[in-house]
Amino acid sequence: MFTQIACLLLYVQVSLGAATSGSLLSSPTTVSPSTHSSSTASITISVPTSTATPNPGGASFPPVGSITRNFSPTGLDQLWNVVGPVESPPFTTTVEPQTPVILPSPPPTLYPSFYANRPKDILSDYKYPKGFIFGLDTAAYQVEGATKEEGKGPSMWDWASRQPGAIADNSTADIADLQYYLYKEDVARVAALGVKAHSFSISWARILPFGTADSPVNQQGIDHYADLIQYHLKSGVEPIATLFHWDTPLALQAYYGGFTSGQIVDDFVHYAKTVFAAYNGTVKTWFTFNEPRVFCGQVASYPFNITYAPGVNTSTAPYQCSYNLIHAHAGAVKAFREMNIVGEIAFKSDDFVGTPWRKNTTDDAAAVERHGAFQIGVFADPIYTTGDWPTILKDTLPPEYLPRFTEEEKREILGSADFFAIDAYRSQYISAPDEGLDACLSNGPSDPEWPQCNTIREFDSNAMWAVGASADVGAPWLQDTSRFFRDAMKEIHRRWPTQKIYVTEFGFAQPFENERTELYRIKEDTDRTNYLMSYLGEMLLSIHEDHIPIMGAFIWSMVDNAEWGQGLSTRFGVQYVNYTTLERTYKRSALALSEFFEAHLQ
Ligand code: GAL
Repeated sequence: MFTQIACLLLYVQVSLGAATSGSLLSSPTTVSPSTHSSSTASITISVPTSTATPNPGGASFPPVGSITRNFSPTGLDQLWNVVGPVESPPFTTTVEPQTPVILPSPPPTLYPSFYANRPKDILSDYKYPKGFIFGLDTAAYQVEGATKEEGKGPSMWDWASRQPGAIADNSTADIADLQYYLYKEDVARVAALGVKAHSFSISWARILPFGTADSPVNQQGIDHYADLIQYHLKSGVEPIATLFHWDTPLALQAYYGGFTSGQIVDDFVHYAKTVFAAYNGTVKTWFTFNEPRVFCGQVASYPFNITYAPGVNTSTAPYQCSYNLIHAHAGAVKAFREMNIVGEIAFKSDDFVGTPWRKNTTDDAAAVERHGAFQIGVFADPIYTTGDWPTILKDTLPPEYLPRFTEEEKREILGSADFFAIDAYRSQYISAPDEGLDACLSNGPSDPEWPQCNTIREFDSNAMWAVGASADVGAPWLQDTSRFFRDAMKEIHRRWPTQKIYVTEFGFAQPFENERTELYRIKEDTDRTNYLMSYLGEMLLSIHEDHIPIMGAFIWSMVDNAEWGQGLSTRFGVQYVNYTTLERTYKRSALALSEFFEAHLQ
């Protein structure tokens, strides 16, 4: 039995995690063979003393609408006061790296060849198609640090990371990797590995500190990304930009409730136009939004659940957010096309459709359909196939939850992406909820599984074998399910067919990595290496044997970074970052990727 505090802690931690954050929109229940937790940790519930809106978790935020628009330095200070004190970085100029970067000698082989191949020998008859992109990912909030430097406005994550119990290890991303000033070193280091692209995100609050269309542009922010992009091009690493990776300008949340308000649409389109105009011709592949489903789930979770537009509540927030976000996406893509921006644009979907847990069970087959609709179809159906929400969502959610599109809106949304992008970390079994699908649906909002009414199973229904090796406890949603990759991609391509797919994120949190102290142990990230090599081999088979048009693979992540609600202690990097010295070290996985792609790219 959980104690109340342990339950609250679990909720807090799960709610801010990436990829499967818990909320109505984002995640059906996950059932593991062992569902108990022995967490004895507790959290401090602080009593807010300001006029800000408190909530049961202890977070506080000014009542939405109470801060008036004041685009002066005083106005900016007022916004930063909502966040509180921020840690300054140890230096504030861009560091010139020592080049050329010399790679360390390759690590010894991991296993004898009778057990597993070296990276270069994996499926050596197969190569990736010409033009295939091998890239690494980062996102602004997670790596940049320098959070209050050079005119940046606060983002909602700058605020969230300071709310009681919101971050598992109480860390902030004020400094994190300081990639804002160390990007040249990071680019040089990955160029030396043979990495062809870096998928990064632009911080809206650096470009427009107050976020809105009528507010001033921060030239330092524009210049920063211009320099960063040029340095990528000079280094032979293609810059690929995402406009929004979850870091809503705090101003917009304070003025009107961020993505829970329709006002966000024009402001986002204005921001997108500003960025397109600034970097047209230098960035060729663009993403509007990273994982909108996870983001809109986050919006419904602590501590964001006290920052809504009038009339929106925790139950409706994910869907109001989805509705506004999809309009913002379509508006940005329309602008992209009207402005004749060079290149291609899409958004990053995430998750998987799933495999029925029990064969020949109609409820499990139906649950898989529900999973596909709620996890991917929610954005992919309107944008790629129908212009409208999936029927399953419309049948389940009344318009008070999920606003409906007009015919004109459907026309604008349909086709607003040039290719398919999927953050495909894993794929698991799906079953009907324990109470049964019909019961869940007829119970409606009183059922904890509603509205998804499906359950993720991380083990098979026969002998209870796990779907795959588990990642670190900081990423409880993640197992190495590379053996399901081909089926997962077939399903995606069958449901949302496109000419081209990029697998825009996949990666692994090596178990216990953060508990290790000696560098030689940390560098030996065996499980991450196994995951990546198995996964990339399956990708070759998917391309050659299943004819799935995958043209890019992007690994999360270039460096260890701030893993949202888990903080700095859950590590996804193929490079280790010492957060005291900010020194980077290649792990085995980085060198394995280098060897693998050297042998498999043409
Ligand atoms: C993704 C997210 C990334 C990163 C990753 C690992 O969902 O886009 O920002 O956190 O998960 O959890």
